[in-house]
Amino acid sequence: MSKLSLDAIVQSQGFGSRKWCRKLIADGEVSVGGVTITDYRAKFETAGLPFTLFGETWEYREHVYIALNKPADYECSRKPSHHPGVLTLLPEQFAWRDVQPVGRLDHDTTGLLLLSDDGPFIHAQSSPKRHLPKVYVATTQEPVTPELVGLLLAGVQLHDEPAPLSAVSCRAIAECQLEIVLEQGKYHQVKRMLAAAGNHCSALRRSAIGGLTLEALGLAEGEWCYLGEAQLALLKLSEGL
Ligand code: URA
Repeated sequence: MSKLSLDAIVQSQGFGSRKWCRKLIADGEVSVGGVTITDYRAKFETAGLPFTLFGETWEYREHVYIALNKPADYECSRKPSHHPGVLTLLPEQFAWRDVQPVGRLDHDTTGLLLLSDDGPFIHAQSSPKRHLPKVYVATTQEPVTPELVGLLLAGVQLHDEPAPLSAVSCRAIAECQLEIVLEQGKYHQVKRMLAAAGNHCSALRRSAIGGLTLEALGLAEGEWCYLGEAQLALLKLSEGL
């Protein structure tokens, strides 16, 4: 349990500099429990504190954990160059509080992307030592054959990789579509594995990370939601990190 002054609370949630937040409070733009507070020094218990800013209600969160159904033509990089960044799909204050994508999806890949401002969480989730399965649905240019599935399961050698990379599981789900589960997160891995196996990936969607599925989250493309404890638990490996 910790108490913070209202200006520190509003600032910590990404609504601007301390000076700006004090001005918002003095201008009567912030209310707590339905009461407008104009004294920025007023202290509140932060855990789960609902506050209203410009008529919109937010809940204090020490960190945010977000799932986004990423559409195509958005970049995950910090300095997007050819397409808008994924942060433009989220409320502005998330960029202010340094929310970042956990790993990356290519600009043309759609589907489940996690974002957070919790450094240790981002680090743990992106660690190469972490073998959390990620499920992708790949649309292929050529039909999916049993030989292709067999090659992806047996392992294909990618340029610049010391050893062949294999899928944890792989199955055809349509004539030109397969579901592939990977435990690593190498650069363009699905596309490169499909190319190395003699096919071509024409569209890619990530449908799940660990036990967290886009289907269960029910997010349409471009939509996002906060992840709660139960959903974060689905990102844990059964034997720990
Ligand atoms: N593999 C790819 O080739 N691209 C992605 O965006 C994710 C995995």
